[in-house]
Amino acid sequence: MSQEIAPMTREEQALFNEVLSREFGLHFPDGKRQILQSRLEPRLRDLRLRRFLDYYLKLQCELGEERDHLVRRVTNNETYFFREKAQFDALFDVALPGLLEAPAHPGKLRLLSAGCSSGEEPYTLAIYARQNRFRLGTTEVQVEAFDIDTDRLALAEAGEYQPRSLRTLDPERTGYFFRRPAEDRFVLKEPFREGVRFRRGNIVDPASFNPQGSYDALFCRNVLIYFSDVALHRAIENFARALRPGGILFLGHSESIIGLSPHFETLRLDRCIAYRRNPR
Ligand SMILES: C[S@@+](CC[C@H](N)C(=O)[O-])C[C@H]1O[C@@H](n2cnc3c(N)ncnc32)[C@H](O)[C@@H]1O
Repeated sequence: MSQEIAPMTREEQALFNEVLSREFGLHFPDGKRQILQSRLEPRLRDLRLRRFLDYYLKLQCELGEERDHLVRRVTNNETYFFREKAQFDALFDVALPGLLEAPAHPGKLRLLSAGCSSGEEPYTLAIYARQNRFRLGTTEVQVEAFDIDTDRLALAEAGEYQPRSLRTLDPERTGYFFRRPAEDRFVLKEPFREGVRFRRGNIVDPASFNPQGSYDALFCRNVLIYFSDVALHRAIENFARALRPGGILFLGHSESIIGLSPHFETLRLDRCIAYRRNPR
């Protein structure tokens, strides 16, 4: 018999928002209560709970064990290769010479993808690095990538994708980057995975960005749109600490930190807006 779950109240929504913002930075505004409700409902069914308040109370006692279930339900993991391609072009075609003048670590270009989902963004950086190897000379590109959703990280490690992740690629480029062991399975070829490392990390946790000043460029795209104001400010502080002076921050095209931080200046790179870390 299907179990009736009472609709989420405004008070319950506020309680969940308080946990989600504190733990992951996420916030569901008033108009998105229905979305939050429908994302959490399957978990309430699994646990045989009838009220959102009961799930909230469970989280109060067992957040440690429940964290991964919760994250899986409330995050949007949409991503694909070469998403907002102009930003990758801007990094490698326009910003690269300046970045190579004073890298965070001599002989290396260190890039971070924060909120990497199933890996399409960091692997796109690795593809660009490979295609720009003559420009890079002896500089080694290291791409670090993290996400709070461990299921997504497992997919990223596997490097195997469905056609929807490749939606911007024509058949010729698809064949160049991917092996195809079956009709709808695309496995990224080994050379395009070089230098990419995945780990669990949380954008609102400063410990996920250590050590200080160690990245030349940081991508955090299509994540901050889901953040509360408080979490957004925590994230910006973490980005400022993680980037070396002159390092560049790339956000999604509907995200902006203009006027929100003294640590960054707005930078026009060809057709893109990015943010440059000010000298300390
Ligand atoms: C919409 S995807 C964006 C992926 C990729 N950056 C892109 O633009 O294609 C958002 C990702 O951010 C992750 N995320 C959300 N909050 C996070 C947090 N506090 N720390 C790390 N990752 C987070 C989600 O798990 C999800 O995989």
